[in-house]
This record gives sequence, C-alpha cells and structure tokens, in this order.
Amino acid sequence: MSRSAVSQEQASAQYPDASAGLKPGWGVSPERQQAIQATLTGLVPHSGRLAPGQLRSITTELARRRELWSDLVVRDPDVRWYLPLHRSNSCDVWLLAWERGQDTDWHDHGGSSGSFAVAEGRLLEQYRAPAGRLSHRRLGPGHAVAFGPGHVHDVAHGGHGSATSIHAYSPPLTAMTYYTSTDYGLIARQTVAIDGPEGGRGRGGPDTALAKASASAARLTSDALPDGAPGIDELLAEARSGIRRLRPEAALAALTDGAVLVDIRPLEQRIVEGEVPGAIIISRNVLEWRLDPRSEARIPALARSDLQIIVMCSQGYASTLAAASLRRIGLTEATDLDGGYQAWQTAGLPTRPAQSLG
Ligand SMILES: [Fe+2]
Repeated sequence: MSRSAVSQEQASAQYPDASAGLKPGWGVSPERQQAIQATLTGLVPHSGRLAPGQLRSITTELARRRELWSDLVVRDPDVRWYLPLHRSNSCDVWLLAWERGQDTDWHDHGGSSGSFAVAEGRLLEQYRAPAGRLSHRRLGPGHAVAFGPGHVHDVAHGGHGSATSIHAYSPPLTAMTYYTSTDYGLIARQTVAIDGPEGGRGRGGPDTALAKASASAARLTSDALPDGAPGIDELLAEARSGIRRLRPEAALAALTDGAVLVDIRPLEQRIVEGEVPGAIIISRNVLEWRLDPRSEARIPALARSDLQIIVMCSQGYASTLAAASLRRIGLTEATDLDGGYQAWQTAGLPTRPAQSLG
C-alpha cells in the first residue's frame, strides 16, 4: 500500500532502491546488548526453531522492559524505522517505530514463525485467516500476536500518536514474499531477500549479517561459474541486438497488419495488471512448443513462419529472451513489445481487467 510494486524483472534490470520506505537504526552499545541478552536468557534456546508461543514470550517481555529500548527509538514521519536488538541461530528480535500512515504492505515471512507485541501506541493488523478470508485486529499496548510460517498480514500504524513494537522471528528472517490484494484474493507478487523486519527490503547497512552473507554468496556463485558464461545483462543485450523491438504504437500498427500479440505473463500478473483485449495468452513455459510449426503441441493457426509474433511480458525484459528463442527455432519475424504491458497501458492503448472464468 505504501510502496509501489517492484517486479523481479525491474529488480534485475534496474536494481531500484530496495530499502525505500524503511530506515534502519544502528548502534546498540555492547552494554545494552548484554542487558537484552540477559533478559532473553531462558527465553531463547541457542539453536533450533522456536514455536509461536515462545516468540510471544520474547516480544511480550521485551515490550514490557521499556528501559532496554525506549531511549533508542527514532521517530520519523516519512520512513518507518527499525533497530535489530538480538540475533542468534534460532531467532532475531527487532524494535520498530510507527507513525501515522505507515504500513508494511501484505507479506509473509518466508517460512519463519513470528510474533509482535505493541509496546506503545496502537497497530492495526489485517491478516489472512483460514480459508483465505481476510480479517483484522486492533492491538494496543501490551497486546501481542504470534503466528506460524503460513501467516500473511499487513501491519499498519493504528492511530492515536506514535507506536512502538517488538518483533521476533524464528528461524531468523531471510526472505519475505509480498502480495497484492485483488478481487481474486491475495496474489503473491514477489519474493525479496531482507535484512529487516516487516518490510525491510533488499539491502541494509554495510555491517548487517545479510550484507555479509550476500557478499559471501556472490563470491561463491561467481567462482562456480564457467569462464566466459554471459551474465543476464549480456544475455539480454545479445538478444536485443538481433531484434527490431516495437514500441506500443508501432506494435498496435503491426497488429492491425496481421501480427499477433502473445502475452506470456503469469496469471497472477495479469490479475494484478490487467490484459490487452485480443492478446493470445501462452505461458512462457510452453511458448516454443505452441509456436514451433514442427511441434505436436503447436497451435496450428499461430505456428507459422510467415506470422509475426509480438511477445509481451510486464516490462519488456523476459519478452526479449522469449522472442530470441522463437527466432532461434526459425520464427524469424518474432519480436517483442518494448516496455511490455506497462508501456502499452501508459500509452493509453486498450486494456481490460483480467477475464475470470465465471
Ligand atoms: Fe510481518
């Protein structure tokens, strides 16, 4: 709600500021860390997975012990603020501050169980109840909730002044999936690596455990690759060098001349973004089999070398690679929509909501 969606495509192509909307705080003194650790002793096993009830004991106790954190809180009306209070192999614990209008967006916790307790002010939690029904609860000082790994929620400042809360997760948070609320229910939008709680997307400070882990993983990954293997950026540039891509207006003109627009976006994305009337929907994972004139699984009316296929995805990245693959199997006229569905929509060309089966 408070942050625009960033797709995997966009993330890989432009690497946007993934931490926008949440500001970390740093610098809990060793003495304070010791005091927090002493409080947690007995509540946090050194290793192993904690049950939601155990996490609730942690958040409730720390929310009560104001002297451990009250002087550390930073109030920022523009950006939600957080501070890591504790991290072990079994769980991580965070201090969060909330101001009017701030919320997390719909998300899960990547397989971690969790709990949060309100220490000051009020929070509003919307959540997905069993059977997919959406529900909500208002939480005031002293209230705590705990949840298992399947929990999906959107936590927001609940009014009446500033709010502060304590959050705990087990195993420690490493990834979260964000959702969009639609008429069809909550649709998973993207999964992001995180180093902060409740919407701490992407990159954190240089000293975070995630930053170190990411750097280490990056080294391992590139060491393991064969010499000369192109990266995704090179692969994309190579694909684009052989294609005359079409901007939306030019694509519309080509469609008028008999070209076919093929929408390869997944259903979830079409539900969230909408559709182009008349576009042929073919999943990316079967695209070549449907369009190769030699394939038994072809669509006869479309699998023709004299037909121009214009592949469309959301932003015009995956579509280029798909079009290059079609050209490789002999469909030399295949191209893609530059800018994808989003450019088509921005150009004011015809769109409609995703069509339901009912
Ligand atoms: Fe959460």
